[in-house]
Amino acid sequence: KNILLINGPNLNLLGTRETEIYGTVNLTDLLDNLKIKAKELNISLHHIQSNAEHVLIDKIHSSRNHIDYIIINPAAFTHTSIAIRDALISVNIPFIEVHISNIHAREDFRSHSWLSDISSGVICGLGLDGYYWALQTISNRLLNLKN
Ligand code: DQA
Repeated sequence: KNILLINGPNLNLLGTRETEIYGTVNLTDLLDNLKIKAKELNISLHHIQSNAEHVLIDKIHSSRNHIDYIIINPAAFTHTSIAIRDALISVNIPFIEVHISNIHAREDFRSHSWLSDISSGVICGLGLDGYYWALQTISNRLLNLKN
């Protein structure tokens, strides 16, 4: 099975950016560990991080025929991007939305997401663990295990 992990703007700075909120682990180390977990689950994990909305949209479009599930941390696009919402609806690939921080415990503008109501689940506030749980849940779902 193929899962695409999408990380939105500024997440390339993970590990150095607002470390009191996002922690000190960088994106490369996160990905290395997620790949280990994916391998255990017999999943092929693909990844894209971009600061550009159209790059993420193009990637979603080109995922149409070979990606079974998406994990997306849309970062700030969560709160702004109807275009990413429409792209995800267009390709009809189920996705889990992940946020490292608890977006409901921060500025008011962060508590609204343009994606949550069309997602198959939302994880927020679990730190980087959220990505692992998303992977585990998707594996369970693809294997039709109850969880
Ligand atoms: C974030 C939360 C967003 O509000 C913020 O813009 C981010 C990261 C998170 O993972 O907690 O860049 O998606």
